[in-house]
Amino acid sequence: MRPQALLPLTLLPSLSSAAETILGLYIFSRHGDRTAKATPPTLLTDLGYSEVFSSGTWFRDQYIANGSTSQIHGIAPDIVKQAQIVASAPLDDVLMPSCLGFLQGLYPPVGPTLGSQTLGNGTVVQVPLNGFQIIPVATVTSGTGSEDSAWLQGSDNCAKAIVSSNDYFDSPEYMALENSTMGFYTSLEPVINSTFAANQTSFKNAYSIFDYINVAEIHNSTIPSSNLLTNSTLFQIRTLADTHEFNLAYNASDPIRAITGATLAAQFVQALNNTITTGGKAPLNIQFGAYGGFQSFFGLANLTSANSDFYGIPDYASTMTFELFTTAAPEPFPAVEDLSVRFLFHNGTTGNNSVPVAYPLFGQSNTTLSWNDFVNGMNSFAVGSQSQWCQACGNSTGVCASPDSNPGPVTGEIGSGSGGISKAVAGVIGAMVTLAVILGVEALIMLVAGLRLAKKNRVGGGAATGETVTPKA
Ligand SMILES: *[C@@H]1O[C@H](CO)[C@@H](O)[C@H](O)[C@H]1NC(C)=O
Ligand SMILES: *[C@@H]1O[C@H](CO)[C@@H](O)[C@H](O)[C@H]1NC(C)=O
Ligand SMILES: *[C@@H]1O[C@H](CO)[C@@H](O)[C@H](O)[C@H]1NC(C)=O
Ligand SMILES: *[C@@H]1O[C@H](CO)[C@@H](O)[C@H](O)[C@H]1NC(C)=O
Ligand SMILES: *[C@@H]1O[C@H](CO)[C@@H](O)[C@H](O)[C@H]1NC(C)=O
Ligand SMILES: *[C@@H]1O[C@H](CO)[C@@H](O)[C@H](O)[C@H]1NC(C)=O
Ligand SMILES: *[C@@H]1O[C@H](CO)[C@@H](O)[C@H](O)[C@H]1NC(C)=O
Ligand SMILES: *[C@@H]1O[C@H](CO)[C@@H](O)[C@H](O)[C@H]1NC(C)=O
Ligand SMILES: *[C@@H]1O[C@H](CO)[C@@H](O)[C@H](O)[C@H]1NC(C)=O
Ligand SMILES: *[C@@H]1O[C@H](CO)[C@@H](O)[C@H](O)[C@H]1NC(C)=O
Ligand SMILES: *[C@@H]1O[C@H](CO)[C@@H](O)[C@H](O)[C@H]1NC(C)=O
Ligand SMILES: *[C@@H]1O[C@H](CO)[C@@H](O)[C@H](O)[C@H]1NC(C)=O
Repeated sequence: MRPQALLPLTLLPSLSSAAETILGLYIFSRHGDRTAKATPPTLLTDLGYSEVFSSGTWFRDQYIANGSTSQIHGIAPDIVKQAQIVASAPLDDVLMPSCLGFLQGLYPPVGPTLGSQTLGNGTVVQVPLNGFQIIPVATVTSGTGSEDSAWLQGSDNCAKAIVSSNDYFDSPEYMALENSTMGFYTSLEPVINSTFAANQTSFKNAYSIFDYINVAEIHNSTIPSSNLLTNSTLFQIRTLADTHEFNLAYNASDPIRAITGATLAAQFVQALNNTITTGGKAPLNIQFGAYGGFQSFFGLANLTSANSDFYGIPDYASTMTFELFTTAAPEPFPAVEDLSVRFLFHNGTTGNNSVPVAYPLFGQSNTTLSWNDFVNGMNSFAVGSQSQWCQACGNSTGVCASPDSNPGPVTGEIGSGSGGISKAVAGVIGAMVTLAVILGVEALIMLVAGLRLAKKNRVGGGAATGETVTPKA
């Protein structure tokens, strides 16, 4: 372990309780530095690679390596045990490579001694690249192509969320801001006119313009009319993009807009629940995703009330981490009543001088939640099954085409985990089927049709409206 890691970590109040044992972890990370969306194809840069590698190294030193501050109970410290780790990312040229780079930091090459094997005939085989470890990464379908897509909902295909995000462009706030910033964006024309036409230079493209200039600030040694880009102008470009993107990702009175965060929430719960139900055999989950997923989760989990920074776009290589831990003895695996969850966030690349901080979820004040409170809070907005998703999104074609007409194939998909249903979603359907065996096939048809499913998982006040997804806002 790196000795210098100790100092900042001891300053972290959230990690100070000596009697805690980490049993499981979910890390959701943004990709590292990349090229601009306005200049496709969008690619991870060398800087981005080193950022995610640095983060992965920090997480190793914190949670995995021998002697680390919060070593996960039972985790393989050196040679990865594939059964202990689930890594996933959309298949693109930014998020997938970022995930792979992070994993290289998490489980680096083990060297010639550990990285070798003796065959039956006595020959010793060395692992290539000094014991480099290969960790499979599952592809997730939600958010696919997100780094090539300028717009969050474009990659999620949820019909009502697309409509909802579009509503932002018709809102009075949007129109007022577009109007009042017209002069500001026009003043940027000399900087961006090689890429943005005059009729594209407005608040409507707040994110693309921010992204283009932000990338240039990092990579271009010369920028046309760079004298215009004062610190306060750069700040305004960024914060206008923050406003634009947050409003596309989340709206308190129209929660379907945050469908990305709602499906992520279900995945977090299911993965940690899987750690529990397997008695700790699957403790480590890593997913890479785009900033839009962070922002819609921030809105849903009311992190914006914990800190107004959560209205902003997370920087490259930012991470959300959920720690599943206990203060009881870790063996045998503790009872559910003895399990707690903590949320941590880090804005940008994690390293020894800049580490994740715990924030309270759901607008309360305690950064430690009992497992049951965590589940109830998350389930007040989580969307975890295909049918729930279809109903919430108002989709009825494609994967959502009349599932009730033939329940057979639906159960088939559960077993195989295929058919376009993500693993997490298949998990929930699996739970639904268990229930259906009890209730009978008619009930299954009702559940698959999504008729009352959302209500079952719902907690908290007037949520029993029969509306889907909609957490009370
Ligand atoms: C880590 O600890 C385990 C269990 O005590 C031990 O087998 C292993 O050799 C240690 N690894 C290193 C790199 O010290
Ligand atoms: C041992 O087996 C390996 C793999 O089959 C082979 O490449 C190697 O030549 C063998 N070594 C000897 C000494 O037979
Ligand atoms: C949902 O509906 C929208 C609009 O009709 C469509 O563009 C999208 O592809 C559908 N998504 C799925 C997964 O079927
Ligand atoms: C836009 O601003 C102009 C003045 O700058 C004003 O006349 C107009 O009403 C505004 N439009 C909207 C939709 O706010
Ligand atoms: C961009 O703006 C600069 C400065 O106003 C001008 O000299 C240049 O011709 C413009 N380029 C394009 C492509 O419009
Ligand atoms: C922007 O202007 C170009 C011509 O300069 C035109 O082809 C394009 O349709 C315009 N786009 C919009 C959104 O008005
Ligand atoms: C930065 O450099 C890239 C690649 O050369 C170029 O496409 C882009 O237009 C430049 N951006 C700015 C703002 O100059
Ligand atoms: C602008 O910001 C940079 C980086 O934060 C800083 O180094 C520089 O001093 C600032 N310049 C001014 C004029 O404030
Ligand atoms: C956890 O998984 C078990 C077994 O699949 C299931 O019965 C239970 O409802 C799940 N709990 C949560 C909170 O998802
Ligand atoms: C992350 O940092 C940026 C500035 O680098 C800030 O604008 C944004 O609000 C921060 N986001 C979060 C979620 O803290
Ligand atoms: C968020 O939390 C704050 C503080 O507890 C609370 O006042 C507010 O109503 C919550 N907002 C939502 C949307 O739940
Ligand atoms: C936070 O919640 C945990 C678990 O419910 C509890 O043990 C702890 O005392 C609480 N802390 C505060 C400051 O309320």
